[in-house]
Amino acid sequence: MSPFAHITGWGMAVPERVLTNVELEKMVDTNDEWIRSRTGIRERRIANDEETTASLATEAALRALDVANLSPADVDLIIVATSSPEHTFPATACLVQDRLGAVKAGAFDLLAACTGFIFGLNMASQSIRSGSVQNALVIGSETLSRLVNWKDRNTCILFGDGAGAFVLQAGEEAAGLLSAVMRSDGSGGDLLSLPAGGSKIPTTLETVRSGLHYIQMNGREVFRFATRVMAQATQEAAEKANMTIDDIQLVIPHQANKRIIEAAARGLNIPIERCYINLERYGNTSTASIPIATCEAIKEGRVHPGDNIAFVGFGAGLTWGAAIARWSGPFTSRRMIYPFRYRMYARLRSILLRWLRRIDAAVWGRNHSH
Ligand code: ACO
Repeated sequence: MSPFAHITGWGMAVPERVLTNVELEKMVDTNDEWIRSRTGIRERRIANDEETTASLATEAALRALDVANLSPADVDLIIVATSSPEHTFPATACLVQDRLGAVKAGAFDLLAACTGFIFGLNMASQSIRSGSVQNALVIGSETLSRLVNWKDRNTCILFGDGAGAFVLQAGEEAAGLLSAVMRSDGSGGDLLSLPAGGSKIPTTLETVRSGLHYIQMNGREVFRFATRVMAQATQEAAEKANMTIDDIQLVIPHQANKRIIEAAARGLNIPIERCYINLERYGNTSTASIPIATCEAIKEGRVHPGDNIAFVGFGAGLTWGAAIARWSGPFTSRRMIYPFRYRMYARLRSILLRWLRRIDAAVWGRNHSH
């Protein structure tokens, strides 16, 4: 029988710096009351100069490995879902692989905007279920604060920085990721985009002057789209797992706007208390919002072994999707792993590899230059 993809580890990392609505009042023409009543957000975290998408992702991943009691060397696959990769290439996932010292992991980025974490979970789960990999890390990480126009009140109030990660491991028992629904509609691509800096509109002085390197959003249309798809996708994922909504103990939705989550709860005909919400403290952290919310739900004792959990999200693309997981927790193991100890080893390994490459080039480059 094909193995199941159990969620055995989880971790989050957010910057310390808090940006409140009141502080935003001094930056753009807005106010705390407007932001709270239209979105539910009170504050968000903002990365400092040292914090990047890869550094937050690495921290979240180490915490997830710690919960799973798994060494970075045991990880076969690293997927970083992100809308704010450090570069077009190399993939942020490769930077994380290097920092973790995940010596045998294949690593790549996945771009499905805020739905990225759900798509990533499904990809990693299918890789495990097919027998191709044993242990996978799925990470959602963002520093969107670097991509928003801090003069645009339509967008800058919404987003925040942070990272969350899950460890997925092959297990015999019927638990872990049970179903997923992945959808997209590229005809709505222009509703939420970052137009310049890619190959179609490379960065020029002109693109910067016209602000095309910032997030552009038609908030009203994205809102309408989101309220339409959230309940539907959750319902479909439940049906695929042979469940009804009543079999699901907790819905962990993408944390974009409280009103969107309320609409989803109405659409599913469930009380809002069955949806986990923490966006008042983090804003919309895109791909990181679902794993961050999961970590906090676990900490608050809202997730128990055997519970069926629904994850549901939407985002630019347009993309949307949902997944159902049966919670089991870490595998029991007698050997104790301390993933944080690997951090120093990983750094040393990276420096050594760079030096070896130089020596190699100096020796072989000279011999083969003619
Ligand atoms: N402060 C004060 N007033 C504001 C602000 C602000 N920060 N932003 C907009 N307004 C004004 C608008 O200019 C508008 O004024 P007008 O009527 O004179 O034109 C008025 O408030 C109402 O604007 P609406 O757009 O109708 O406000 P709405 O209730 O739709 O809320 C919001 C706007 C919060 C952006 C909402 O539409 C929303 O949440 N949309 C979804 C956005 C989203 O989730 N995006 C992320 C997707 S995930 C991803 O892939 C990254």
